[in-house]
Amino acid sequence: MPRLGVNVDHVATLREARKITYPDPVTAAALAELAGAECIVVHLREDRRHIKDRDLRILRETITTTLNMEMAATEEMLQIAAQIKPDVSTLVPEKREELTTEGGLDVLSNRTRVEAAVKALKEAGIMVSLFIDPDMGQIQASHEVGADAIEIHTGAYCEAKTPHDVDEELQKVIVVARKAHDLGLEVKAGHGLHYFNVRRIADIPEIEELSIGHSIVARAVLVGMERAVREMITLIQRPPCERPQR
Ligand code: PXP
Repeated sequence: MPRLGVNVDHVATLREARKITYPDPVTAAALAELAGAECIVVHLREDRRHIKDRDLRILRETITTTLNMEMAATEEMLQIAAQIKPDVSTLVPEKREELTTEGGLDVLSNRTRVEAAVKALKEAGIMVSLFIDPDMGQIQASHEVGADAIEIHTGAYCEAKTPHDVDEELQKVIVVARKAHDLGLEVKAGHGLHYFNVRRIADIPEIEELSIGHSIVARAVLVGMERAVREMITLIQRPPCERPQR
């Protein structure tokens, strides 16, 4: 059974929509851990559009499981990782204009840069995972540059429209998971997974961890809505004498 890593970026997205202090991804991370998450994942993007340096610092101090920092292989991010020391750094490609991480890291074409980043992170005592498309060449290159783990990009599987295409994309994930495992890499998977497509990925025996964010945060908004509304009604309809003095 794979472990669950919960990505709390989108709690910060909601906070940043108002540029205020809530909802706090740090609180969300603590609740995710209480519910059984074994890893907290955050992506510190170059433009800091959701997670901020402050979040990463506090998460490092407060989480009790493992911290996985997703990051681009830039000088700035390597320095921050060396300071914060997440348990794992996942190297991802990053373009400013994208809505989310759109493709896997091209290790084959950026071998020298990725290898240098892997080396620097490992020297800082951080385990390194590479987020890659389900492609044999990328798996082999990930192994050759010294990565400890790979995270297979499940976006194509999640976005496939027909049952035939879904099966085809799933098969790619199955085959590369086996290959990566045979090479001695730890195998993770993520991106786009939700409550209706996760089962077949979770069933792949070589996959040890799933990284899931958007669908969990989206569901939390809805399953928590009733309670949030009830609590607000209780508060505003309290008799005046019971109102707390402030
Ligand atoms: N893994 C990686 C490397 C990602 O960049 C993301 C998106 O931040 C995820 C997993 C989680 O994807 P989602 O939010 O679609 O569950």
